[in-house]
Amino acid sequence: MKLVILGPPGAGKGTQADYIIKKYDIPHISTGDIFRENIKNNTELGKKAKSYMDKGLLVPDELVIDLVEDRIKKDDAKDGFLLDGFPRTVAQAVSLDAILDAEGDKLTKVININVEPEILIKRACGRRICKTCGATYHIEFNPPKVSGICDNDGTKLIQRDDDNEETVKKRIEVYFDQTAPLIDYYNAQGLLIDVNGAQDIDKVFDEIVAGLK
Ligand code: AP5
Ligand code: MG
Ligand code: ZN
Repeated sequence: MKLVILGPPGAGKGTQADYIIKKYDIPHISTGDIFRENIKNNTELGKKAKSYMDKGLLVPDELVIDLVEDRIKKDDAKDGFLLDGFPRTVAQAVSLDAILDAEGDKLTKVININVEPEILIKRACGRRICKTCGATYHIEFNPPKVSGICDNDGTKLIQRDDDNEETVKKRIEVYFDQTAPLIDYYNAQGLLIDVNGAQDIDKVFDEIVAGLK
């Protein structure tokens, strides 16, 4: 199964991805996570990406597309993958189609998670993450058992640098401007599964599974 999960910042892409990859046994490929890993390791790519991410802007296509091509050509992604946060521009989507087409392949489905902007701001600003295991929590909607501490490994939870209100608003604006056109792009290919992301996490997942049947 070769899947893309699409949706605005804070829609729940990463949260749903955790469930999807377990059920369908495919790797989770998140370009945002790859950039954050590079920032943590202070690589050249990380330095370049950080200057855009901190402002809520997209990293330029040329820094993203080759990276994703290399990743989806790895052995573990041969039979399937879930792309989270990619593609994010029409140019990225066209490149992805071309990369797959060259192998006589195509995407299976594109999951589109819909959530209104007011809810997105609350979700992103209240998000807390664990740097050790990557788990995502929300102070109100999905709190850890002990406030501020990861359930899995006891690590102190932190906030992402781009999860402040000003940057979140910018990311939402950039999403509507540059990424939302992909909804029509994939709809025209008959690939889109529209999901209501404003429900409980397990309800959203049920809708995704139903759409993939
Ligand atoms: P990226 O890391 O992809 O961030 P994003 O798209 O802004 O999305 P988020 O990760 O913020 O949200 P999410 O949908 O995963 O929500 P989550 O599940 O965590 O990208 C970051 C930056 O990297 C970009 O701004 C850009 O600069 C750069 N970048 C990345 N890819 C790029 C590309 N391809 N091209 C160019 N630049 C790129 O959930 C959010 C919160 O809500 C959590 O606290 C969660 O617990 C909670 N929650 C989730 N679901 C529910 C629910 N159903 N009910 C209640 N709460 C919920
Ligand atoms: Mg995410
Ligand atoms: Zn953890």
